[in-house]
Amino acid sequence: MKVLFRNMGMTYVISKYLDEETAFKAKKYAEDLEDTRWVRRSQLTPPRQIDNSSCAYDFCGHSQMPKYVVEFFKSIAPQFEEYRLAEIAINRYNVGDHLGKHRDVDYYRKNLVIALQDSNDGVLIEDNNEFVKDSIGQGICIDGIGPVHSVAPVNNKRYSLVYLYE
Ligand SMILES: [Fe+2]
Repeated sequence: MKVLFRNMGMTYVISKYLDEETAFKAKKYAEDLEDTRWVRRSQLTPPRQIDNSSCAYDFCGHSQMPKYVVEFFKSIAPQFEEYRLAEIAINRYNVGDHLGKHRDVDYYRKNLVIALQDSNDGVLIEDNNEFVKDSIGQGICIDGIGPVHSVAPVNNKRYSLVYLYE
């Protein structure tokens, strides 16, 4: 795997985790999920929440997905030696949706978020002010609790695929 960026101090890695064709297929699966499978997330709570941050986006966890969709996402999941894939989820942002400053829960040892489209939207790593623009198949892999990060209100419909490993 080609690592595009590694910041040891911040313990996250930015890399292409899925090839374009696979990421495009994943987006198709996400788009085909019926509306009733999505859960609206509109509140961040401590310890995830930072500085009274807020959020507004749709979430579909693996228990809300049909089995064949879970199987597909499992089949394309990046593998890490000595880590077990524990959870799969898709986040969907409609235009204007956002995810305010937060830290991921440290229950999982690895938190991988993969962009399923190219766009000018993306993730801001607040701790070092690095903006990671969406690039299809590119992901940010955070070890443990990691840096504070956020998604500003998006200008385009946006999907991200989340893999949590323990
Ligand atoms: Fe996060």
